[in-house]
Amino acid sequence: MGWLKVFLLLVGLANCRRPRTTPAVPTVTALIGQGVMIPCSIPHRPTGLNESRIYWQASNPRSKKPHEDMVLLVYNRGKMENHLRTALYMNRTRLFPGQLHDGNFSLYIDPVKIEDDRAKVIVRYEKNDFKPLCPTYIRVTARNSKPAVHSSCTQGEGLVEVTCATQGGFPEPTFSWRIQNHTVLRPQEMTRTMERDPHSGTFSADLTVQLNASEGQTTTCLVTNPVLQETVSTSITIQSCKVDPQVNTASWLVPVALLVALVFVFLVALGAYKYRRMEYQVTPQGSTTSVTVV
Ligand SMILES: *[C@@H]1O[C@H](CO)[C@@H](O)[C@H](O)[C@H]1NC(C)=O
Ligand SMILES: *[C@@H]1O[C@H](CO)[C@@H](O)[C@H](O)[C@H]1NC(C)=O
Ligand SMILES: *[C@@H]1O[C@H](CO)[C@@H](O)[C@H](O)[C@H]1NC(C)=O
Ligand SMILES: *[C@@H]1O[C@H](CO)[C@@H](O)[C@H](O)[C@H]1NC(C)=O
Ligand SMILES: *[C@@H]1O[C@H](CO)[C@@H](O)[C@H](O)[C@H]1NC(C)=O
Repeated sequence: MGWLKVFLLLVGLANCRRPRTTPAVPTVTALIGQGVMIPCSIPHRPTGLNESRIYWQASNPRSKKPHEDMVLLVYNRGKMENHLRTALYMNRTRLFPGQLHDGNFSLYIDPVKIEDDRAKVIVRYEKNDFKPLCPTYIRVTARNSKPAVHSSCTQGEGLVEVTCATQGGFPEPTFSWRIQNHTVLRPQEMTRTMERDPHSGTFSADLTVQLNASEGQTTTCLVTNPVLQETVSTSITIQSCKVDPQVNTASWLVPVALLVALVFVFLVALGAYKYRRMEYQVTPQGSTTSVTVV
């Protein structure tokens, strides 16, 4: 029964997605904070550009007004009408005016914002009866920071709690774990926190799992960005809880050595001070004699 539900759900999802992933519409991947080119070229050199209009528009099912087209840029009879841009794209879009006459209608968006995600950009050109040209989806992403990994100590073989934290990624990262070079198939998950930065919209993720790892084994947390298919990872070595006597000796040897060094420096300083005082007592007599001579 459960499997049937899952199957129906998958079929439903596939149906929903079909219009979106029509292979005819290319997708450009854009990194938050960087620039992205929305390529558009018409196959012939346009004539009479100075008398015609070109609009760059976008629709986004995730925007506040999903059924309203947003204006990215307007070219009207030889001039850019920048004030007509939708607030979201104000000051963020430009094209290459020198290339317009070659039929290069490419648009540059800089810097990319999280709100650009899933936008479908089209170009409308008057000489083309404003039929949509160059439909392009924007997929926004951001790289995850190299994870910070910490573990509790372990007593021999057993479960170790390991925490892995990463920031700055978009969309939500996926985690995987390795002990030595074996992938952990189903780590026992303890806690997972996923927070969005209210300003940039990127994710901070923090995951704690229990792994069956023992002292000295290398544990790796791998964080993957699903859009870029890029993985960043950090490895740590599982530490033992036992207090190692050698480590113990070493730990009290250091302060003792420091103390000995301090006492030595003090004695040397004291010696120098006494020597100087003796010298000082001698010199005034010498100078008095020289004064009497003068
Ligand atoms: C279009 O206008 C620009 C400046 O407004 C001018 O330099 C150019 O010669 C014009 N081109 C045509 C084909 O009229
Ligand atoms: C766009 O730039 C102008 C001039 O640099 C500035 O006054 C304006 O506030 C900017 N608008 C936005 C929405 O960033
Ligand atoms: C259009 O112009 C941009 C900016 O100069 C350039 O990067 C791009 O390659 C051009 N596209 C074509 C098809 O020439
Ligand atoms: C951890 O793995 C070892 C063998 O590798 C096994 O003997 C032990 O029972 C496991 N411990 C737990 C808590 O699963
Ligand atoms: C895993 O590590 C062992 C030694 O620790 C090595 O012999 C083996 O080739 C490694 N396997 C892979 C797939 O890296």
